[in-house]
Amino acid sequence: MKEENKKFDITVKSNTRDLFAFTKLVPNRKKRFEKASNEPITKDPMNKLAVRLHPLRQYLVISDIKNETNSTKTFKLTPDPNSNTKELAYFRAGQYLSLKVQVNGVAITRPYSISSTPSDALKGFYEITIRKEEHGFLTEYIWDNWKNGTKVESSGPEGYFFYEPLRDLEQIVGIAGGSGITPFRSIIKEIAEGKLDAKITLLYGSSEEADIIFYDEFKEIEKNNPSKIKTVYILSCDVVSLEGCEKGFITKEIIEKYCDANSSTFFICGPQIMYNFVEEELNKFKLPVKRIRREAFGEVKDILTNPDFPKEVAEKIFKIKVHIGNLLKEIPAIATESVLIALERANLNPPSKCRSGECGFCRSLLIDGKVYINPVSDWRKGGDKKFNYFHPCASYPISDLEIKIPRDI
Ligand SMILES: Cc1cc2nc3c(=O)[nH]c(=O)nc-3n(C[C@H](O)[C@H](O)[C@H](O)COP(=O)(O)OP(=O)(O)OC[C@H]3O[C@@H](n4cnc5c(N)ncnc54)[C@H](O)[C@@H]3O)c2cc1C
Ligand code: FES
Repeated sequence: MKEENKKFDITVKSNTRDLFAFTKLVPNRKKRFEKASNEPITKDPMNKLAVRLHPLRQYLVISDIKNETNSTKTFKLTPDPNSNTKELAYFRAGQYLSLKVQVNGVAITRPYSISSTPSDALKGFYEITIRKEEHGFLTEYIWDNWKNGTKVESSGPEGYFFYEPLRDLEQIVGIAGGSGITPFRSIIKEIAEGKLDAKITLLYGSSEEADIIFYDEFKEIEKNNPSKIKTVYILSCDVVSLEGCEKGFITKEIIEKYCDANSSTFFICGPQIMYNFVEEELNKFKLPVKRIRREAFGEVKDILTNPDFPKEVAEKIFKIKVHIGNLLKEIPAIATESVLIALERANLNPPSKCRSGECGFCRSLLIDGKVYINPVSDWRKGGDKKFNYFHPCASYPISDLEIKIPRDI
């Protein structure tokens, strides 16, 4: 008993003396109050810490751009010296930043996972790795305009796609598709740095060899950390020349070949189409819900592919009466675009971060009319559903609407 106490540095005087010490707790506290200064605490350390960890905005500047593949670049972001962002918010590997960008006069947001590590943030930089989308509204703009010195405004770190030792098993299986590899770079590098006590087997699906991002970097990290990190590449194209790659898709058989599903926590990040496929394969293992973690996948590319979306409104343009503060504006809204996009097109600067129905930052009141809510992105609380609150990023107009939106802060 004594040994134990020594180990934890606890001094047990005697049971009765310790019990009596409690009787003095209240009078001792009173004495301390009497002695304390009556000056107000102007610099509350907890508030200061909260602002450092969760800044509303971070003002950044591009300090380096690296080509990863023909369609992917990594942007290094450092604090803009002409702003009041002096240091970067710390984060958990796997989180994202919501960028706020003016594209041809329209203010929009887009989430991007941080591909560098938390310790890089302490050194003064973040990296984000962006794939150019065909006809992508922001990514085409980025390819034409972003260069060293371009200023970029972002949120603080956001999202829940991170490893939590109290919840997750030590063995992670990362399932990535396309640009969904980016949060895993942060996680893998943090494991290699010895700062995340976990092991990872990464199953990374791509269409073509040329689309694989971070191949050489991951192979090097894997070589130096063979007991903690394993990467497997799965290619859906016909001709595969890379040694050791699998052909096809991430099926139950591939998962079984490389992982013990029953003693792993799965982390999935990629396009929606990959989730649909991989989740069916994972269902075959009958794992508890908490053992499969998913990153938000953003807005649905083509809502008409949702079987229960009312196809008869597909061609329609509805009117939305928008209350914002004391203003009332009427704007057009295309049925197949989210209400959030309609608000952005009308330049109303609506707040948003995840664009996936998850963060609640765009939460608004539906006063009148009907919206179609994408069921997989409906993360609203019961109370919100009851009192007609909705998330414009995950909702599509299917009649004329009247809504009340919050101002961006
Ligand atoms: C949590 C999360 C993390 C992500 N991380 C990454 C990452 O690390 N790397 C990466 O490459 N991607 C990432 N993404 C995807 C990323 O956020 C973007 O969706 C992607 O880069 C495509 O953006 P885009 O604007 O080019 O294309 P889209 O978002 O497909 O742009 C086209 C859309 O713009 C709309 N639009 C057209 N004109 C206007 C207008 N005038 N005003 C407003 N809207 C208009 C169209 O309706 C259309 O829906 C992530 C997504 C999520 C949810
Ligand atoms: S932006 Fe996150 S819920 Fe709409």
